[in-house]
Amino acid sequence: MDHFHYHDNTLWAEEVPLPEIASRFGTPCYVYSRAMIEHQWRAFDQAFQDYPHRLCYAVKANSNLAVLNILARLGSGFDIVSVGELERVLAAGGDPGQVVFSGVGKRADEMHRALTAGIACFNVESEAELAHLNDIAGKLGRQAPVSLRVNPDVDARTHPYIATGLRENKFGIEIDQALEVYAHAVTLPYIDILGVDCHIGSQLTSLSPFLAASERVLALVDQLAERGIEVRHIDLGGGLGITYRDEAPPSPQQYATALREKLVGRNLEVWIEPGRAIVGNGGVLLTRVEYLKHTPHKDFAIVDAAMNDLLRPALYDAWQEIIPVTISTDGKSHLFDVVGPVCETGDFLGKQRHLAIGVGELLVARAAGAYGFTMSSNYNSRPRAAEVMVDGSKAYLVRERETVESLYAGESILPE
Ligand code: LLP
Repeated sequence: MDHFHYHDNTLWAEEVPLPEIASRFGTPCYVYSRAMIEHQWRAFDQAFQDYPHRLCYAVKANSNLAVLNILARLGSGFDIVSVGELERVLAAGGDPGQVVFSGVGKRADEMHRALTAGIACFNVESEAELAHLNDIAGKLGRQAPVSLRVNPDVDARTHPYIATGLRENKFGIEIDQALEVYAHAVTLPYIDILGVDCHIGSQLTSLSPFLAASERVLALVDQLAERGIEVRHIDLGGGLGITYRDEAPPSPQQYATALREKLVGRNLEVWIEPGRAIVGNGGVLLTRVEYLKHTPHKDFAIVDAAMNDLLRPALYDAWQEIIPVTISTDGKSHLFDVVGPVCETGDFLGKQRHLAIGVGELLVARAAGAYGFTMSSNYNSRPRAAEVMVDGSKAYLVRERETVESLYAGESILPE
């Protein structure tokens, strides 16, 4: 279901032509489709059918308040990794009782805030963190709800920077040591063990690593039960991939159905933390061509978006589809490197792309709804882009473009 579609040779988001968005809000700008985001969330939800489940959307993928609010209205839970993400969820009307807190480096103040907000579960990643959380919960006179994140040593077969479930990664507790850590955890007075958690990586394009990880987690659940430690849920993290180019990842339906089969006959809730698969294809980055530069070796389309706006190509050599907003009728295309104004050779959105475009025309980078704006920065003192949410025939500005003044508003010069 693609709500970014051509109509009379012009690209639209739902019922709004993108040139209209560019003239109203300027470029570069992120454009999201409410219908696409909702469709993906519902696809996961419906695929679990009546099996008890909880979807905790991974806020890091796209943390705009409008996105969080749309998901909160559907009844979504949230996976957070910082107090900043927690405050966003609360500001967007999310239910703290459906929030899980992941991450290897939770600080004392973050644990404190999450405990007082009443989150559903801390996904604890080490023994040291467990002890720290027990302390902080004790001072508050509360029980901290906990799952231990185990590292199942499964190869996610994805980009090494985003594979997290291998023994050499910093994440989780080695699965072979997990029994011992659980046995200790249940003796801690302010820790309430609820479940087992894992997350093996991101942009996974086949089911087998998920199934291998879930088998290992379920084997651990059984071993725990033998020792009298009953858990109520397993959390299998996020990671389901999307199509950027020619990947053919399982659909949310196929993914959820396969997991459900592993869980038949068990009295265990399943929690998952999808990010990219919910918002990735529901957003584009809209940008305007500033210059065309022809050299004897190469042609460059220099656009007004850069690596500070969309870091994935520069950081992971990620391929994002780049398409024109208006299809040229004379159809003469050239091979371009689509690059931004930032002073780095790594500043590109795409290389060697066939495009029929002219100066002043609009392009979009597709599949930019996840890890697009959230990974943007002010590098080269570039204000961050505006964000727009399209809902049917309406387009709403859901984040103002930053002003230049705001870039240094918190800075000061020495008195002498
Ligand atoms: N849960 C945990 C504990 C995670 O670390 C992540 C992602 C997720 C859930 C959500 O994973 P997803 O469903 O979105 O794959 N910046 C990279 C992706 C980094 C993912 C980090 N962790 C990229 O642009 O590809």
